[in-house]
Amino acid sequence: MARVPEAVIEEIKSRSDIVEIISEYLPLKPAGKNYKALCPFHQEKTPSFMVSSEKQIFNCFSCGVGGNVFSFLMKNEHLTFMEALKMLADRAGIKLPSHPDRGGEGKTLKLFELNELAAVFFQRCLEKQEGEKALKYLRNRGLSRETIHKFRLGYALPSWDRFLKEASRKGFSPNLLEEVGLALQRRDKSGFYDRFRNRIMFPIFNVRGKIVGFGGRVLDNSSPKYMNSPETPIYHKSDNLYGLNLAKEYILRENKVIIVEGYLDALTPYQEGIGNTVASLGTALSPGHLRCLRRYTKEVIIVYDGDKAGVAATLRGLDLLVEEEFHVKVVSLPPAQDPDGFIRKYGKEAFLEKVEKAPGLFDYKLNLLLSRYDPDSAEGKARIAKEILPTIDKVQDAIEKRAYVKELATRLNLRGKITLGEEDILAELRKLRKGKPSSAPPLPLERGTALAERYLIQALLQEEELVSEAKKLLGTKDFRDQRYQRIAEAIFELESAGKPTHPGEVISYLQDEELGAAVARLAMETSPYSNGTQALTECLKRIRKEEKKRSLRECEEKIKEAQSRGEEELIRNLQFEYQALLSK
Ligand code: GTP
Ligand code: MN
Repeated sequence: MARVPEAVIEEIKSRSDIVEIISEYLPLKPAGKNYKALCPFHQEKTPSFMVSSEKQIFNCFSCGVGGNVFSFLMKNEHLTFMEALKMLADRAGIKLPSHPDRGGEGKTLKLFELNELAAVFFQRCLEKQEGEKALKYLRNRGLSRETIHKFRLGYALPSWDRFLKEASRKGFSPNLLEEVGLALQRRDKSGFYDRFRNRIMFPIFNVRGKIVGFGGRVLDNSSPKYMNSPETPIYHKSDNLYGLNLAKEYILRENKVIIVEGYLDALTPYQEGIGNTVASLGTALSPGHLRCLRRYTKEVIIVYDGDKAGVAATLRGLDLLVEEEFHVKVVSLPPAQDPDGFIRKYGKEAFLEKVEKAPGLFDYKLNLLLSRYDPDSAEGKARIAKEILPTIDKVQDAIEKRAYVKELATRLNLRGKITLGEEDILAELRKLRKGKPSSAPPLPLERGTALAERYLIQALLQEEELVSEAKKLLGTKDFRDQRYQRIAEAIFELESAGKPTHPGEVISYLQDEELGAAVARLAMETSPYSNGTQALTECLKRIRKEEKKRSLRECEEKIKEAQSRGEEELIRNLQFEYQALLSK
């Protein structure tokens, strides 16, 4: 890998504001000198993810991740350092010196580039004569030119290799096309062919609007209706919601999100001004989806096709939302209607009314079960209770939970001879509860560390002026804890090289995820000392005292050993040494 000159890295860093960049991924709210948000790296209910504009670092006080702008991108986008650097360089309009692409380096970015190339190619094909029938199809489905443009819809030609050729002219290898899901290898391995042929192309964006994959729809009733990109290094179906890149600002504004199933079901509402719509693209809602959403809202309205097989499976999936304390409402559409069809037929207002009046998940589910099983029979009651209990179980709020238990008991006892009381329901609930472990993420730096070393490092990270002074007073060997020793080493080496030693620099210098997170945390945590000088003095005193105690102990041991062997001369020398240590 060709090394990027340090001056260039410096320039990129100085033009990449961490607050601005992290804001592109999650909504940051001002909190004193810092900014905070719900941590994207673990699930939480109150924000402990802090970003410091002044220090250009971030840290989650709950799960312990942290670092500088590079660390964030590497972790959040699964990039290597070089890839993160390249991304920030592009963003800042700085050209990186080109370097040979070896193995993984730059791979991710290449995949994104390839998707972008494909999207542009498909878009152009839609405009061409050859794409006329595709464009006509889309217009017939009621999509405006503006919507087609906004969602970057395109058309893949019927040919077996048009895109392969286009990509190879631009220097992309067929293997790379295969990796990103745009091409498939022939069965006899004699070559490759385009995956998407004669299909309307829907690029699938990540939350930042970069293309991670595609969905391709046929223009008629043939099957398969949709062909979608496979899982690739940049496309994880269960971590992506279609349309979120455009919907996120609307979701924030409205504080609710409408989740639909299909591409068209996301496009049509958007076009009609209902911007807070995203599509799960036929996959069950997963924890990854929730992670995407929780940064924007906790209010979810599900609008799935009314008569789909698998309603039950879908509903079961929704318990996950309840567990994560989302408020879930469910819209049921008339049979054979999906959101796209419904809006076309009955209009935007009718759709919004459905959304407004949607029952909560518990009510929706209970009604569904009451209509499906016979609540007059003992067996029916048991079935209903059995299917709805997991939902109730997931409700975190005790009062709400109790209300559901009560309502379930009432509804089940309205008819029939056998009664199922609240107590029975509670007993069943308790059975469900059994054997569920709760786990808390381990906190870094919290165990078995010499506090003095910790606070000393913290002082150096928080007040750079102290570094040269500290360097005169102690060496890295004074740190007993390996981690602090390595951080001190980085700080001192940067100082010796005449470079700044602020936390962001130290993090880059260390090139170690865990240590970087520790640095970020120490830099952002409030010190128990009133100022750095005081921290330095007192911690140093403490460290020295410990050192002295240790040395005395060691000397004592040696004396004992010498005594047992009767080495008079050595004993005398050691005793002398002991006295010297004592009076130090
Ligand atoms: P239209 O029929 O054009 O209205 O499509 P839609 O966007 O309404 O999609 P639909 O509700 O039929 O399907 C929901 C989602 O499931 C789609 O967006 C696809 O992601 C997925 N899907 C549907 N049909 C197929 C298929 O045949 N194969 C695959 N792999 N996925 C499909
Ligand atoms: Mn549809």
